[in-house]
Amino acid sequence: MGRPALWLLLQFLLIPGAAAGIRPALRALGNLHLSSSSTSRPAVANNYLVRYIQQKVDHFGFHNAKTFKQRYLIADKHWRKDGGSILFYTGNEGDITWICNNTGFMWDVAEEMKAMLVFAEHRYYGESLPFGEDSLKDSKHLNYLTSEQALADYAMLIRHLKRTIPGAKNQPVIAIGGSYGGMLAAWFRMKYPHIVVGALASSAPIWHFKDLVPCGEFMKIVTRDFTKNGPNCSQSIHMSWGAINRLSKTSSGLQWLTKAFHLCSPLTSEDIPYLKDWLSETWVNLAMMDYPYASDFLQPLPAWPIKVVCQYLKHPHVSDSLLLQNIFQALNVYYNYSGQAKCLNFSQAATSNLGTLGWSYQVCTEMVMPFCTNGIEDMFEPYLWNLKKFSDDCYSQWGVRPRPSWITTMYGGKNISSHTNIVFSNGDLDPWSGGGVTKDITDTLVAITIPQGAHHLDLRAVEIAH
Ligand SMILES: *[C@@H]1O[C@H](CO)[C@@H](O)[C@H](O)[C@H]1NC(C)=O
Ligand SMILES: *[C@@H]1O[C@H](CO)[C@@H](O)[C@H](O)[C@H]1NC(C)=O
Ligand SMILES: *[C@@H]1O[C@H](CO)[C@@H](O)[C@H](O)[C@H]1NC(C)=O
Ligand SMILES: *[C@@H]1O[C@H](CO)[C@@H](O)[C@H](O)[C@H]1NC(C)=O
Ligand SMILES: *[C@@H]1O[C@H](CO)[C@@H](O)[C@H](O)[C@H]1NC(C)=O
Repeated sequence: MGRPALWLLLQFLLIPGAAAGIRPALRALGNLHLSSSSTSRPAVANNYLVRYIQQKVDHFGFHNAKTFKQRYLIADKHWRKDGGSILFYTGNEGDITWICNNTGFMWDVAEEMKAMLVFAEHRYYGESLPFGEDSLKDSKHLNYLTSEQALADYAMLIRHLKRTIPGAKNQPVIAIGGSYGGMLAAWFRMKYPHIVVGALASSAPIWHFKDLVPCGEFMKIVTRDFTKNGPNCSQSIHMSWGAINRLSKTSSGLQWLTKAFHLCSPLTSEDIPYLKDWLSETWVNLAMMDYPYASDFLQPLPAWPIKVVCQYLKHPHVSDSLLLQNIFQALNVYYNYSGQAKCLNFSQAATSNLGTLGWSYQVCTEMVMPFCTNGIEDMFEPYLWNLKKFSDDCYSQWGVRPRPSWITTMYGGKNISSHTNIVFSNGDLDPWSGGGVTKDITDTLVAITIPQGAHHLDLRAVEIAH
């Protein structure tokens, strides 16, 4: 399978790419879950204990009796046996210590809620590997990487904590998560209402599945975020694809582009789809991380990074070379805010803390999230979602085919009104909000929209906006 398709599969809820445009969205998806990292408040993350629990590799069959060690973090500084509670982070696709570092919100509310904090690592990520280093090797080893198995791990862990920690037994547990972790928090409450009294599902695109929301929503929101900072900004990006196409027709054009973008290695015409994916991914990541303060989630970024980027993209109707030089300035905001970058490497994912390989398997099995663009309502090249092609790519990468309707069968799709006590929060800048619950469903299935909010802004530590 060619790399573009692979990229499409990669990455959390981070990004989409088309013949270029859509893959980044998928990567975005990958990252969807990430929460906040706060350069200003690193201290909190040290105040936890790292623990392990023995979990069954397969909770749903009796043939395989193997177990593995699941990692979790626990902090009880503010916990009170009397009147306290347990806040339980339903880990998503990444190293749980990194997720913990980026979930300042729980640390911020611990004292007020007299809460014990628990961060559970998702199986197949971080240290929680059912088959050690073979875990991600092939579909045989990956067979137990599903949301259902992960939720069962969380249920077992909570029962274990309640049994073994004196005073915990009768305390309410609230599930909290962001991005894919937010989907898990909501689903955990739906499937295990006897174990968690409620859930905060932040930036959780539980409807980003087949036939539930239009596949173009995500990239439309990305585009809107850029247009908000001046229509010329998204227009410049829109025009950049044609400029790249024209320049990449000749070898002198390719050489010029290599230089103009300060690329680490010379571009060939075969690289162009990857280059475009990488660009799209960059715009998507900026939309997800358009936080009001300087942050360091995937990359060090200034406050309101899209505003900074758009300062370089004010003139769409200029020569191809000038337009692309401006695009380079914009890229430099994302890749070189630190001033340390020697060159830009379009083969490099900007998401090393995320479990991109495991997530690429998940999107090829349960988490089938359609992305498309039309180049009219969005600033990307047109890209049609093609399930057959997606399925073929999955088959060649993993030897498995996706089941696009399974999540809806399992978790109810739009028909979830029989459930209770879930708060769905979404930032209106977050492209993932397009697949999220943004209107109240009942009195206890409540939607909160955060004006000017990017991806799970609410789970980040409180910081002073500039
Ligand atoms: C989490 O934060 C701690 C303390 O600042 C730091 O030592 C550690 O490297 C961080 N872990 C990750 C994965 O970012
Ligand atoms: C937007 O671009 C047009 C055409 O290049 C130009 O005339 C106009 O001044 C630009 N607007 C801003 C706000 O820069
Ligand atoms: C990154 O920024 C530094 C400082 O402005 C500059 O010297 C360097 O050339 C930049 N790197 C790239 C790849 O443009
Ligand atoms: C670019 O990134 C790829 C993938 O991470 C890596 O293999 C390659 O060495 C990098 N190239 C340079 C010049 O840093
Ligand atoms: C939704 O679920 C309820 C039961 O919870 C059922 O009565 C109703 O017919 C369902 N609606 C749809 C559109 O499936």
